[in-house]
Parts: sequence; C-alpha cells; structure tokens
Amino acid sequence: MTAGDWNDGWERLMARYQPGREQAIERTIDLIAARGDGRAPRVLDVGGGTGTLCSRLLARIPEAEVTLVDLDPVMLAIAGASLPSSVKVVRADLRDPDWTGLLPYSGYDAVLAIMALHYLPPDRLTALYAELAGLVREGGFVANVDDMPDADAMASAADDGSWDAWWAQVAADPALGPAVKERARLFGDSSSAEWHPPAAWHLRALKAGPVDEPAVAWRNGAQTAVVAFRPR
Ligand SMILES: C[S@@+](CC[C@H](N)C(=O)[O-])C[C@H]1O[C@@H](n2cnc3c(N)ncnc32)[C@H](O)[C@@H]1O
Repeated sequence: MTAGDWNDGWERLMARYQPGREQAIERTIDLIAARGDGRAPRVLDVGGGTGTLCSRLLARIPEAEVTLVDLDPVMLAIAGASLPSSVKVVRADLRDPDWTGLLPYSGYDAVLAIMALHYLPPDRLTALYAELAGLVREGGFVANVDDMPDADAMASAADDGSWDAWWAQVAADPALGPAVKERARLFGDSSSAEWHPPAAWHLRALKAGPVDEPAVAWRNGAQTAVVAFRPR
C-alpha cells in the first residue's frame, strides 16, 4: 500500500470519528485565508497525524509555510511520504515542555490542533495552551478543534473495532510494521487514554500569553472549535 492509501483509510475512519470533519477543516482554513495581509501564512499543525490539514491547506494556499508536529512514527512516516518536501515535519512529544525548541520557527500566524489534544492530562494541556499561545505572531490565532461535550452530553465514541482493524493492517505492513512497534514503545498506554472536558474548560485554559479572550468559533454537536487571536 502507498502512503496515499494509508492516508485514505485514516481519513475514512476520521470522518466517522469526527462528524463534520470536512467542514471543520474548511472552516479552519477559512480563518487562515481571511487574514489578508498579503504575507504567506506560517502555519503550525500540532498532532498533525497523516497530514490531512496540511495538504488541504496547501491545496488552497500553496504559498503557506507549514510545519507539522507529531510523535507517532506511523503518522510521521505517512505524512513525510505524502506531503510536499516544503512542509517541515517535526517529531516532537507534546508532553515534553521543551518541545517548542524543535520547531523551525519561533512564531506562527496560525497554530492549530485538530482532534489531537485529548490525549493530554489537564495540567499538561493547560501548560501546552500557554506554549501554543506564545507561538502566535501578531494578528494570528491559536485554534483547537475537538470533542468538547456539554456537561450533560457525552462525546461520540469511536468504532473501536474499525480502529483496531486499521492499526492491525498497519502493523502487518512490511514498511510501517516496525514503526508500529516503535509507537508502542513511545506512547505506552497513553495513546488510548482520552480526556474530553467541556468547552468552558478549554476557554479558561486558553486564556494565556499574548492572545485575546478565547471564544467558541463554531460547534457541531460535541465537536467544538475554540479560537484565540493575538491583536496586531
Ligand atoms: C486523532 S489523531 C488526529 C490527527 C490529525 N490532527 C487529524 O485530524 O487527522 C491525534 C494525533 O495526535 C498525535 N499525538 C498524540 N499524543 C501526542 C504527543 N504526546 N505528542 C505529539 N503528538 C501526539 C497522534 O500521534 C495523532 O497523530
């Protein structure tokens, strides 16, 4: 199978796991496109996975300067093989407070996370929000799109059987199989632990660094985008 095939399989599962994924990606890119200051936007996608957001962004804004961060060697292998070489693909652990030292730039116009931060415990996510906000250049923004259920609603559950099947196929692939072993070593049990606080929690935690008061940019069921801009 090619990187494109793996990416297609991943996307099919993500579309089931994340209702409204297409619109969420498009709306996130709309926010970047709306800047309109004539500069090529510099964009950071944390927990960028196989690179879907990055490739969709480049299809709309080819001049964007894009950095993808992930830790999973399987995701990084697929992203590295399917994204153009202009994309800076960085292996970093968002649990490590020094991870920003691995980035190629000190500032970004858009700092994005799509369905990527729910593996982090509350203390680490709070600290990470401050780190993400600190990377935002004037006029830019930080956005997190994830399941943020109301207190009385539960996030929709993934179809575990289908995810298991996808990962089992990757493990059996001659090229990616070794990366699956490396993945288990890196993540231990934490890759399956998820934490989905309500949007109000994220809004409190994202009040950090140089960005303005954060707000909910849109909601689609539990799927919520919280965004904070840094004034010019
Ligand atoms: C559900 S996937 C979403 C991927 C991508 N944002 C998308 O929408 O397709 C979550 C991503 O977060 C990454 N991730 C989880 N924990 C991480 C960590 N501690 N450091 C870096 N990346 C991490 C995973 O490897 C995975 O690629």
